Amino acid sequence: MKVLVTGGMGYIGSHTCIQLLEAGMTPVIFDNLYNSKVSVNERIQRVTGQSVEFVEGDIRNKALLVDTMKRHNIDSVIHFAGLKAVGESVAKPLEYFDNNVSGTLVLVDAMRDAGVTSLVFSSSATVYGDPASVPITEDFPTSATNPYGRSKLMVEECLTDFHAANPQWSITLLRYFNPVGSHPSGDLGEDPQGIPNNLMPFVSQVAVGRREFLSVFGDDYPTPDGTGVRDYIHVMDLADGHIAALNKVGQQAGLHIFNLGTGNGSSVLDMVKAFEQASGKTVAYKIAPRRPGDIAECWADSSKAETILQWKATRSLQQMCEDTWHWQSENPKGYPE
Ligand code: NAD
Ligand code: UD1
Repeated sequence: MKVLVTGGMGYIGSHTCIQLLEAGMTPVIFDNLYNSKVSVNERIQRVTGQSVEFVEGDIRNKALLVDTMKRHNIDSVIHFAGLKAVGESVAKPLEYFDNNVSGTLVLVDAMRDAGVTSLVFSSSATVYGDPASVPITEDFPTSATNPYGRSKLMVEECLTDFHAANPQWSITLLRYFNPVGSHPSGDLGEDPQGIPNNLMPFVSQVAVGRREFLSVFGDDYPTPDGTGVRDYIHVMDLADGHIAALNKVGQQAGLHIFNLGTGNGSSVLDMVKAFEQASGKTVAYKIAPRRPGDIAECWADSSKAETILQWKATRSLQQMCEDTWHWQSENPKGYPE
């Protein structure tokens, strides 16, 4: 199976490319390198011993997409490409709608022209807004609290309408919970530019000495230790979820929606403790005010994916922290240019 991977040089895309290769599939990466470096591809090759075709391009370039899909006889598309920083999306909503929403519409239009009718889309638990209860199942109501979240929700809605008109397509919406961790080799990992927005990259940068301390955003939530609770999932488990989606429903007409999470909630302080254990380093932290827009707790009911995709997250919190530390300690400044 030949799979076009938009955003394949990025954090989740690169790990998924490795698992595609391990599963005997052929990824073709399509990425504009806006938030990634081309050296990622050398790391994929180092880990798998196989080279991956890379097309540098923007998903808003329809002609290049059609040409790439035809030239490589693409069977399915996994669509990771997009912008993902919540705070930035509040300041630059137009850029987010253009990249994430218009970009996806151009991609689907290009797929139609190239005769490719199988799509897996990177959605997010952010589409559940502030959920009324936990764990969250796929039929919970959806809403958006910021432009990034709205862009994911808009794409989901556009794809739902598109599927209603084109029921022969296979469209899979994967709602990720909180991806963390790295490839166990330590050769690939998350490489945020500037100050990390997300918890685990920040924690690992404190441990490696790049930042002085972690600000814990709020300790007065109605949770066991007062700090925010999330469903952290190992990026390799998440990558495997994409392989399962392609294998089980990728050739099956339908609109398929799955949560990809572990079903377990961990607090900010749980994560700090687990990371300290895995790294042998102390992670200094200070309690800070709540971050605007944050919710108290969020974790998945992933039983639908377990039943239909026969997929289940298996890697432990310890593994997530060990692998993150392996990557961070061997690549303290991230990927080379
Ligand atoms: P990432 O930024 O590491 O990877 C995204 C990749 O897409 C980058 O390599 C970037 O260069 C590329 N890209 C961006 N705009 C592009 C465009 N217009 N054309 C071509 N390439 C473009 O992000 P990630 O963490 O790997 O996330 C991948 C996807 O998963 C995103 O759609 C994101 O919204 C979604 N997601 C991520 C998380 C998370 O916590 N990381 C959670 C839920 C959903
Ligand atoms: C954030 C996004 C969400 C996106 C997800 C991707 C917001 C409001 N939400 O979710 O839309 O889909 O990333 O993974 O940005 N924390 C600290 N200190 C830090 C960073 C985080 O205490 O420096 C806390 C947060 O308050 C939260 C937890 O750690 O309780 C996880 O935060 P983060 O990694 O940013 O993920 P989410 O908030 O779940």
